Amino acid sequence: MDTRDQLAEHLKFFSELGVPGVSRDPVWADRPVNASADPEPEPATIEHPQIAPVSLVRSAAEVLANVRADIGDCTRCKLHKAGRHTIVFGVGNPEADLMFVGEAPGRDEDLQGIPFVGRAGQKLTQIIEAIGLTRDQVYIANVIKCRPPENRNPEPDEVETCEPFLFRQIDAIAPKVIVALGTFAARSLLKTMDPISRLRGRVYEYRGAKLIPTFHPAFLLRNPSCRREVWEDMKKVRALLKGEGA
Ligand code: URA
Repeated sequence: MDTRDQLAEHLKFFSELGVPGVSRDPVWADRPVNASADPEPEPATIEHPQIAPVSLVRSAAEVLANVRADIGDCTRCKLHKAGRHTIVFGVGNPEADLMFVGEAPGRDEDLQGIPFVGRAGQKLTQIIEAIGLTRDQVYIANVIKCRPPENRNPEPDEVETCEPFLFRQIDAIAPKVIVALGTFAARSLLKTMDPISRLRGRVYEYRGAKLIPTFHPAFLLRNPSCRREVWEDMKKVRALLKGEGA
């Protein structure tokens, strides 16, 4: 925990005790804290002109920066020594209403440090634009932040190690809608072994958001006939973003 976190914890603790704020004014430091310490306490009329409420609320961008700092130059799982070049954290608007979650970085993402920049990424950009948004308006992340060698599927210990960071990203952004891209992301988030073909077509409640599973853009590149299903899913996303129940 960094100093700022510690201070925030400390202040939260005081605010839970009913302390309205802090001040550098010596009157504040010297104030009586209980009756026994002050045999004849004055009625509570001490004025604290410099006391101001302390905001404990942090912006989503600050929380995300903290999560990234906690990841550091991660060596928590074996992927750090499996040819990883860059940790691919996530990109986009920290206040986004819509978040996309993929599986793990591929080769291009590993080199550039940005999720979904290869061919599948271009497909994802088209999907985002099809509902009238840009990549800058949404947030994009993966379950796993480091590239698995030869793009193999992430292994259970890798998911277990990495997914808490994704959960913290989701909680910081608090999107209205999350799109889980492909079997792996949908299974990881929904904690099921069902395939994407069974999971998609429904809306799930997930960490305060609506979660819509859809086919992975890489799958769509190989199976263009699934475009129709993805479009159906994205129309639901658009409706949910507009506040229309889907
Ligand atoms: N596939 C993914 O799941 N994520 C990426 O970032 C790129 C390709």
